Amino acid sequence: MPTVGVPAEVAEGERRVALVPATVAKLTSSGWNVNVESGAGTAAGFPDAQYSTAGATVTDRAAALASEVVVGVSPPPADLVRSLQPGSTVAGFLEPYVNEELMRATCESGLTAIAVEAIPRTTLAQSMDALSSQTNLAGYAAVLLAAHDAPKVFPMMVTAAGTIAPARVLILGVGVAGLQAIATARRLGAVVHAYDIRPETAEQVESLGAKFVAAPTADADAGGYAVEVEEDIQARQHAALAPYVAQADIIVTTAQIPGRPAPLLVTTEMVSTMHAGSVIVDMAAGTGGNVEPSRPDEVIDVGGARIHGPTNLAAHVPGDASRMYSRNLETMLERLASLEDALTEDAIFSEAAVIVEGKAQHPRTRALLGLDET
Ligand code: NAI
Repeated sequence: MPTVGVPAEVAEGERRVALVPATVAKLTSSGWNVNVESGAGTAAGFPDAQYSTAGATVTDRAAALASEVVVGVSPPPADLVRSLQPGSTVAGFLEPYVNEELMRATCESGLTAIAVEAIPRTTLAQSMDALSSQTNLAGYAAVLLAAHDAPKVFPMMVTAAGTIAPARVLILGVGVAGLQAIATARRLGAVVHAYDIRPETAEQVESLGAKFVAAPTADADAGGYAVEVEEDIQARQHAALAPYVAQADIIVTTAQIPGRPAPLLVTTEMVSTMHAGSVIVDMAAGTGGNVEPSRPDEVIDVGGARIHGPTNLAAHVPGDASRMYSRNLETMLERLASLEDALTEDAIFSEAAVIVEGKAQHPRTRALLGLDET
């Protein structure tokens, strides 16, 4: 019977857990042995007793790490990977295209690495799409972070003590995170404007009751992702966005280009036109930032506007983020257990198993490790 281990997360601020008790119950009933490190689910609201009831063995760290498949949420430190059993598999967010130290340690230890970021975004793999499940919640959490920090309420209020105008919210980047950010800000009663380079998002924005900002658009690549734009288009974007930035109480930016630095959408000069007390949440701060002055996991003040650069917003809602992530892993583990072909032959694992038995497979991981020409 296969064994899966759930060590407690070690990354700073990480409150999620890879498997929740409900998933453990399903996995144990289909034959998995599940070893959960004591306390692994506590910060997400899942005490040890719930894991025991679900059929897991609640154990120490060493036993969780000695499992055939070790699952996690945040990328593990390289020395954790080096302590795993030779031939075992590590699965989770592994930063397979940028985290050279982790990818190298995985290869040198002869392990197999399944990176959830590399799961193809196809209909077949939709229920395993951890990138979407976590980004969706991050978009929600970004709006709540801004609402908490802002001196202003979101809804319009007509009261005996006066009338409050609704907050003006600007969302830049309308992918998975941006759509959820729009929906969340609308639910709170804000007037929302949104913009994305992909023209098809205009209809999605309007269907959520927000207004699409008329700024340059460009077709996506074959995979549906935005591509980098030329400098003149960027300058036109800045000019079109500037008046909306100046009037916004809240801005949430989510724009990303896979494998490239995030596009710059809001310059320091644009931020300096915002009023004191306005709040920006730059969800792309970890990949270079959409907002020029933002810094990863810092709060910067520019003329009274506060700019947050959170890099792990899904961990702000660890219970539901863990439930969704755990469902993603459940589907993945069940597929892994029933696999008849080699990992490299499978429609999903041929992409997601970026390293197989110490050998880097994914072209971008190979490029990261200097194994091929880029
Ligand atoms: P992402 O995280 O890569 O980027 C977020 C948003 O930023 C995107 O909407 C992108 O168009 C936008 N963006 C990039 N450069 C920009 C610029 N210069 N100015 C303004 N906006 C810019 O995107 P995400 O959320 O991962 O989604 C990407 C695509 O994949 C979308 O088409 C989405 O619908 C699709 N998707 C499909 C799934 C499936 O079929 N299973 C699952 C998830 C996403």
